Amino acid sequence: TPTDLHRASTTAPVNIAVIKYWGKRSTTLNLPTNSSLSVTLSQSDLRTHTTASCSHSFNSDSLLLNGSVQDVAGARTQACFRELRALRSAIEEKDAAEPKLSAMPLQIVSENNFPTAAGLASSAAGFAALVRAIADLYRLPASPTELSRIARQGSGSACRSLFGGFVAWEAGVEEDGRDSLAYEVAPASHWPSMRALILVVSAEKKGVSSTTGMQATVATSALFPMRVKDVVPQRMKRMEKAIHEKDFATFADLTMRDSNSFHACCLDTTPPIFYLNDVSRAAIRAVEGINAKAGKEIAAYTFDAGPNCVVYYDEENEALVAGWFKAVLGSVEGWDGARGGAVAPM
Ligand code: PMV
Repeated sequence: TPTDLHRASTTAPVNIAVIKYWGKRSTTLNLPTNSSLSVTLSQSDLRTHTTASCSHSFNSDSLLLNGSVQDVAGARTQACFRELRALRSAIEEKDAAEPKLSAMPLQIVSENNFPTAAGLASSAAGFAALVRAIADLYRLPASPTELSRIARQGSGSACRSLFGGFVAWEAGVEEDGRDSLAYEVAPASHWPSMRALILVVSAEKKGVSSTTGMQATVATSALFPMRVKDVVPQRMKRMEKAIHEKDFATFADLTMRDSNSFHACCLDTTPPIFYLNDVSRAAIRAVEGINAKAGKEIAAYTFDAGPNCVVYYDEENEALVAGWFKAVLGSVEGWDGARGGAVAPM
């Protein structure tokens, strides 16, 4: 019957890490080898819109992404459904008047307004939106931190998209992952002049999935243990401090070094993983050129598991940074400013 239909909608933005998550200590729970830190692009239109419905009239759980049917049998999606249903069941057990939503099949309908799986953090926005839509549907009193524990099991980086602004994901030490959670380092309003320029170098699907890549790096890279043990823990502390102090030069320096460290570990993987291409390298040189001309770091590049570039800068340098990209990359084949260049206020 129509009265049996329950529904909730939400959107979640992408986040782009400045200290990268790369490496899992547990693949079943998506527990990372190191903590990470990101900026949530809340004001941009890079987001996933998700509607979660449940009804006895549905035959089974289903998930539609950009109009195509997805497999819900995967362990990641199942883990999110299971955790959220358990929280809903607890409410239903306490209060007999609550409708038994946890027993109904779920129907999830999601739309991304950006390329899926092209290294633009689509899984982060996707699982964050999925988890929050179902939490809203179930009227769970869960905090963003509690939801981050669940979203993490869908896609690691998704746990950071439940917060706006500057967000850290604490790796944690527990085997069951109860302390592997995201928290807010600072709200977006703390540093409102922060901007992200997104250069879509390629909208194609990435060659090596992040899970496959991470496992290969953990298993074979000799550089990787040093990154996990010494490099990242120190950078996490320095990055939090740079954000609190709004010290852009330090923020930029750490961001670029950490992107390069992550891609160096990819190259150090056997067989090597190449996410950057010639256009990505041209973007790196453009940022180096901008910073050399300015005499200090006013722009910072970073790349995820794909060739697309995100450049962070302060709004006061908008003309310098965005202007250079037009001049330098406008003539490079593969970079189409009209299609690819997007300035996103965070
Ligand atoms: O959340 P996943 O499993 O898609 O991994 C994301 C990994 C990077 O985007 C490369 C880094 C990060 O911290 O987001």
